[in-house]
Amino acid sequence: MERIVVLDFGGQYNQLIARRVREAGVYSELLPHNAPIEQIKGESLSGLILTGGPDSVYAEGAKACYDAIFSLGVPVLGICYGMQYIAKVFGGRIEAAPVREYGRTPIRMTDHPLLRGLDSGIVWMNHNDSVFGMPSGFSAIAETDNCPFAAFADDARRLYGIQFHAEVAHTPKGELIFRNFLREICGCACTYSPAGLADTLIAQIRAQVGEGRVLGALSGGVDSSVASVLVHNAIGDRLTCIFVDHGLLRHHEAEEVISFYRDKLNLNIIKVDARERFLGKLAGVTDPEQKRKIIGTEFVRVFEEEAKKLGGADWLLQGTIYPDVIESGTQTGAKIKSHHNVGGLPADIGFKGLIEPLRMLFKDEVRALGESLGIAHELVWRQPFPGPGLAIRVLGEVTEEKLAILRQSDYIFRQEIAAAGLAEKIWQYFTVFTGMRSVGVMGDQRTYDYAIGVRAVTSTDAMTVEWAEIPYPVLRRISERIIGEVPHVNRVVYDITSKPPGTIEWE
Ligand code: XMP
Repeated sequence: MERIVVLDFGGQYNQLIARRVREAGVYSELLPHNAPIEQIKGESLSGLILTGGPDSVYAEGAKACYDAIFSLGVPVLGICYGMQYIAKVFGGRIEAAPVREYGRTPIRMTDHPLLRGLDSGIVWMNHNDSVFGMPSGFSAIAETDNCPFAAFADDARRLYGIQFHAEVAHTPKGELIFRNFLREICGCACTYSPAGLADTLIAQIRAQVGEGRVLGALSGGVDSSVASVLVHNAIGDRLTCIFVDHGLLRHHEAEEVISFYRDKLNLNIIKVDARERFLGKLAGVTDPEQKRKIIGTEFVRVFEEEAKKLGGADWLLQGTIYPDVIESGTQTGAKIKSHHNVGGLPADIGFKGLIEPLRMLFKDEVRALGESLGIAHELVWRQPFPGPGLAIRVLGEVTEEKLAILRQSDYIFRQEIAAAGLAEKIWQYFTVFTGMRSVGVMGDQRTYDYAIGVRAVTSTDAMTVEWAEIPYPVLRRISERIIGEVPHVNRVVYDITSKPPGTIEWE
């Protein structure tokens, strides 16, 4: 399989670069800037991309990679900081630009193969520094009014740089840069598609599991469903799935999930009622990170116990996907939250190890894979639901009373979104128990009751999101129904925060 390594110098959207490469048909991995050469190279390595980042290349402690990457014999493309870094290594000069370029910027390009097809003359810029002294052997292939070397190339050594961000949607046809780099410069055939991964993943699972038994952690979401179907296809009945009702599920969720997996997917599934146990551990806990850690630990303890009851299981299957891995903190990215299935795992986990067949895939790739495995459309397109469940949608301490209010409001919201035909247009939509109380008037009486938050976002991968523009009449109906039907709620607020700076979940 062809492979591109993207070295991460700490820019906020570097995973987008890895996605663009995959969309262009080559498997890619995002590795820390200082990843060891052994991890980077390999027979299948077709090229390298150095990402953007917040540093200035001459700053003390500026992120660097091993010089040996330039001797691997594959083409290298630097983007923004990545371009400046290449310039620095090969003897160029980088300076703060007199005019900082930010946003949509007119550009003039030559007819270089890397830039072919980008005819709009506009790119997205976001930089303070620029290359001003060209390293020898390189030539300029694009310029803007304030940036004489907006892109450069050394065709002999196959080194390239672009100062602009081709990976963001604001650069029209930016994806062509990646396609050109892969096809014209790296010589890739570009045949990667997530839908075609099933056989490879199944073979890997068989090799890892051997004759062993697997316990599957099934949440009912698309990730764990696709992961379970893959493992079931690989090893059949040696997979037993456990569905834990931790008391933090949505209205009717447990029944729906169980019937789906038994009847439609034919999986061997055990439902564990652990409601009291989880809520007991969460009593009095208000800190979001601690809640996540407690839930993560309890999950694994439950799985270990169930494995014992079954006479032992060797491996624990999890539906971890790439954003979980990235957001739980790589060496370069800041840690935002401990996702329950990565950061929350205890060290002394009582299995030989984890099986995470989807840990290198983005959500849209998991869905494409799921469809190719023949999993029902409504399951593949179920909205994501976090492992810690409603615990991270009740701000502060979790109690039965708050959960009941949250469930009821969430159910109304979901019904109204379905009735409006918006369910597949919105990435995630749910209500939040804010814990805030305010004064209202109902039936001529003063009320002092809770405010429910309504959250709905559009996204392709949960890494960045926009708040969803739900039509006002639908919002009005949602608000009227929640206040009219859910006791102790007298106010509904709509969350109009994108990510970043917000996150999807409130905790
Ligand atoms: P945030 O809130 O970080 O969420 O923007 C990104 C996506 O991840 C889901 N999420 C989780 N999923 N375990 C999960 O399996 C977790 O601990 C977890 N926390 C957040 C969230 O619903 C959104 O889809």
